[in-house]
Amino acid sequence: MENVVVLIVGAGPAGLATAACLTQFSIPYVIVEREDCGASLWRNRAYDRLKLHLAKEFCELPYMSYPEDAPTYIPKALFVKYLDEYMERFEIQPKYLTSVELSKYDNDNNCWYIVARDMAEFTTTKIIAKFLVVASGENSANNIPVIPELDTFLGEALHSSRYKSGKSFFGKSVLVIGSGNSGMEIAYDLATHGANTSIVIRSPIHVMTKEVIRLGMTLSHHLPLNLVDNLLVMATKFIFGDLSRHGIIMPKMGPMILKSKTGRSTVIDVGTVGLIKRGIIQVQGNISNIMGKKVKFQCGDEISFDSIVFATGYKSTSNAWLKNDGSMLNENGLPIKEYPNHWKGENRLYCAGLARRGLAGIATDAKNIANDINSTMGSISSEISFCM
Ligand SMILES: Cc1cc2nc3c(=O)[nH]c(=O)nc-3n(C[C@H](O)[C@H](O)[C@H](O)COP(=O)(O)OP(=O)(O)OC[C@H]3O[C@@H](n4cnc5c(N)ncnc54)[C@H](O)[C@@H]3O)c2cc1C
Ligand SMILES: *[C@@H]1O[C@H](CO)[C@@H](O)[C@H](O)[C@H]1NC(C)=O
Ligand SMILES: *[C@@H]1O[C@H](CO)[C@@H](O)[C@H](O)[C@H]1NC(C)=O
Ligand SMILES: *[C@@H]1O[C@H](CO)[C@@H](O)[C@H](O)[C@H]1NC(C)=O
Repeated sequence: MENVVVLIVGAGPAGLATAACLTQFSIPYVIVEREDCGASLWRNRAYDRLKLHLAKEFCELPYMSYPEDAPTYIPKALFVKYLDEYMERFEIQPKYLTSVELSKYDNDNNCWYIVARDMAEFTTTKIIAKFLVVASGENSANNIPVIPELDTFLGEALHSSRYKSGKSFFGKSVLVIGSGNSGMEIAYDLATHGANTSIVIRSPIHVMTKEVIRLGMTLSHHLPLNLVDNLLVMATKFIFGDLSRHGIIMPKMGPMILKSKTGRSTVIDVGTVGLIKRGIIQVQGNISNIMGKKVKFQCGDEISFDSIVFATGYKSTSNAWLKNDGSMLNENGLPIKEYPNHWKGENRLYCAGLARRGLAGIATDAKNIANDINSTMGSISSEISFCM
């Protein structure tokens, strides 16, 4: 049985940022990570050409800037290097290969009881913590939609987290399912590597150049969101023209308001729109079912594919291990309370990085959590004894 003040679950950007902020207050913590490295999502589950989608000024973790000469959009390898340096600077040493399987609040002793599995030794460890920080990410499991007869598909089907590059798809027919940032970029990567590429776009999306998005993020600090949205939509229509005849429909709600209301991000165009307009990438609608190598679409078309890439996102899995949490998270493992009040539950429970607000949201969560833990420790240590 190990006794800790703060237990942080997950050594991605959110866990690391929280650790760094706690260190500023000299608050001791333990950080556990199920994989054998920090930032495993970026190291092991991201495609080669990935860059941070947002300009670097919106992607910093607390207390450490990117180097002056870093490019505006940080490539994956540089981001991983930044996170490695972050760990070094703040002396963060996660316990790797340690997967949390159960956390329960004990009302009699006012403690969190945590059971973690040692993935190397196949043993379990019990941890008692005063404070518990859920930093296991919005992306901890692959999300694959239910498609009738998917198991009968004769080609290769993979999730975007296993996709590295289009090199191995040269000359093949590939269907990308999902039109978020990953799907649109993977489609571009496939097409530019010589794959005959189609993408399923099921519902309306905003897709814009990264410059337009950067402008929007900057303007949103000074102007009302609906005004910013009108400007962005106008700029986009001017740059791309009418995309509806290519199968890309704009949502009725503007991009900034949509993001703040639903968490849905605008897709950043990396060149995909141009390839769609030139007919190099084909846009498809909903799938009805799969038969062998053929995919049948709701419009009646039947097309053969060698491979399917599911760029259908991820899900949080914290609800699988976090019990009696005092209703901080819903059944999808995401916060119940709305931003900006989402990060704190009952009984000294917190979450970092679950509000669908990217790295900027992670930085704010980490600071809020560390401040709150600091003041809670100041106010309770003398009065109530808990978790002894
Ligand atoms: C392809 C992609 C591109 C993105 N680009 C951007 C961008 O440009 N800008 C931006 O701001 N945001 C971006 N994001 C969103 C977000 O910033 C990243 O997903 C970021 O890595 C989230 O950090 P995190 O620490 O919350 O989660 P993660 O990076 O997923 O880290 C969580 C960690 O917890 C570990 N873990 C999970 N469950 C357990 C458990 N039970 N026990 C122990 N450990 C556990 C996982 O192994 C993982 O290492 C992107 C996301 C994706 C998927
Ligand atoms: C590419 O795929 C489309 C269907 O999406 C098909 O109509 C076309 O013939 C294919 N082109 C080649 C060169 O295989
Ligand atoms: C695809 O199906 C979804 C519901 O599953 C529906 O909302 C959407 O309108 C459909 N899209 C197209 C292009 O038919
Ligand atoms: C940390 O907590 C202590 C004790 O409550 C308090 O005096 C101090 O001001 C706090 N620090 C900050 C930066 O809030």
